[in-house]
Amino acid sequence: MKVNLISDTITVPSKGMLNKMFNAKVGDDIFRNDPTTLLLEEKVASMFGMEAALFFPSGTMSNQAALKYHTNPGEQLICDHFAHIYNYESGGISFNSGVSCKLIQGNRGMITAPQVAQSINIKSYILPKTTLVCVENTTNKGGGACYDFKVLKEIKKVCVENKLAFHLDGARLWNALLETSAKPKEYGAIFDTISLCFSKGLGAPIGSILLGTKEAMREILRTRKQLGGGMRQVGYLAAAALYAIENQWEEMRKDHKRAKEIEVVLSKCEYVKEIAPVETNIIIFTLTDKIDETKFLEILQGKNITLTDMGSQTIRIVTHRDYTEEQHQYFIDVLKNLEI
Ligand SMILES: Cc1ncc(COP(=O)(O)O)c(C=O)c1O
Repeated sequence: MKVNLISDTITVPSKGMLNKMFNAKVGDDIFRNDPTTLLLEEKVASMFGMEAALFFPSGTMSNQAALKYHTNPGEQLICDHFAHIYNYESGGISFNSGVSCKLIQGNRGMITAPQVAQSINIKSYILPKTTLVCVENTTNKGGGACYDFKVLKEIKKVCVENKLAFHLDGARLWNALLETSAKPKEYGAIFDTISLCFSKGLGAPIGSILLGTKEAMREILRTRKQLGGGMRQVGYLAAAALYAIENQWEEMRKDHKRAKEIEVVLSKCEYVKEIAPVETNIIIFTLTDKIDETKFLEILQGKNITLTDMGSQTIRIVTHRDYTEEQHQYFIDVLKNLEI
């Protein structure tokens, strides 16, 4: 048996999804006449109570286009030091927007309003102008942690008081929405732009969406084209996203349940030093100094189990819809019986 828990991005489209894709009505989205893409944009924008939306090929591109919209070269944004936009988008912030980051040492990738307030540069021509705050929910490097919505509202207040834009990297907001009480429209009411991914836990093969005002999306349409993200008969992919929201979103609860079960098992293993509290589908844990992480991963690889090395004795596991109950039982068994 093979178990691959490196990411929730490795899933392949389900039969139902492929069927929906094959039957999609398509047009040319560069002319803005692909009916399925327009339907997806309209549906997600209205779900979040936002004016408009644009479909993107990736979460990186939708984040980058939003950051470019909110900033000018030489300015500074505020984010957590774990942020995907800072760590894993190939330096896109500086490449695309010429913007620097004021990094906050938050808690599991999450920042607070007082931390944001302290990170805003005073008005001085020798300092970069602070113009944007970015948060991630759930946090990837922070182990799938979900923000308390109250904290986001407090950050929004600081943004309003200081005339800062507020962007949400909601690649895995779908996971947070299943575990917390805040509703999509509440998110829509406090963020200027929201990026959501369909190709993570939802199980679509590709695609993200950016939400915001009509005016913002009009401008970002140009940025998306400049970045090479204008697409033609993309309705086939929008159909996968629509199918995912309608049929596969609720099923992600299973990923969360299995992640929590893995947490329970790991908490009893002697080779585990610490586990970040598991809230959604990501498990991050550290090993004791009895074994280093490379050796640990080699042992698991020998049993056909692949996990991610995060460095410094840290391992990441991500559960996803293609991880079966049979694989889950096998993995748990292996974890319980490892002799280290
Ligand atoms: C939090 C977060 N934001 C953005 C992205 C980027 O998404 P993509 O891989 O579609 O570019 C990822 C991808 O893993 C992510 O985890």
